[in-house]
Amino acid sequence: MTEHLLRSRSRTGWRWSTAWRAARTPGGVIAALVALGGAWSAASMAASIEGERAPAALVERGRYLVKTTGCNDCHTPGYMESAGHLEESRWLVGNSLGWQGPWGTTYPPNLRLLVQGLTPDQWLTVARRQTRPPMPWFALRDMTDEDLLAIYYFTRSLGPAGTPAPAFVPPQKSAQTPVVKIPG
Ligand code: HEC
Repeated sequence: MTEHLLRSRSRTGWRWSTAWRAARTPGGVIAALVALGGAWSAASMAASIEGERAPAALVERGRYLVKTTGCNDCHTPGYMESAGHLEESRWLVGNSLGWQGPWGTTYPPNLRLLVQGLTPDQWLTVARRQTRPPMPWFALRDMTDEDLLAIYYFTRSLGPAGTPAPAFVPPQKSAQTPVVKIPG
């Protein structure tokens, strides 16, 4: 029984059908309730943590991912220059250094403010949608729900800070900030 349940635990979480099957075996109702109580599929994780404090382990994983997947390089002013020694309170506040190319001029948004207005589910959608360069949006698209939610909860744990980044400037319009020019 336990073995059956364990084997059925998919990478993304419990399947309801497993719990249902478990419920139909002797003593299975309790086992099924235990199974569902421990359900940490991304969807239930998002639903159950919303409005509560995120588990420390999830926040810690988010910190690790943000640190090692390059988000600070663009979304945190001064991070690259400090070789990653900038204090966390200054992370992910967005950047007024523009990235200019054939697509126009883009600015890394303030993620500390962005996550405040999003539910975990909305974050999963926003994080995965295609953006203009140089955001490596496909890296977020290819992350697991768990990793994306870890980034979300870590970023929320930092609290809101900073101001919104400058708005996108279309091609042929001149940017009012310093820019990094990418040849087209
Ligand atoms: C090379 C610079 C760069 C890196 C690295 C980078 N970003 Fe971005 N990011 C940007 C820019 C520029 C935009 C704005 C794109 C636009 O305006 O279309 C952006 C946009 C976003 C958005 C907004 C998506 C939307 O549709 O509103 C999110 C969320 C985001 N980045 C998260 C991250 C995370 C998380 C990481 C680390 C895994 C990361 N970014 C790494 C430059 C970067």
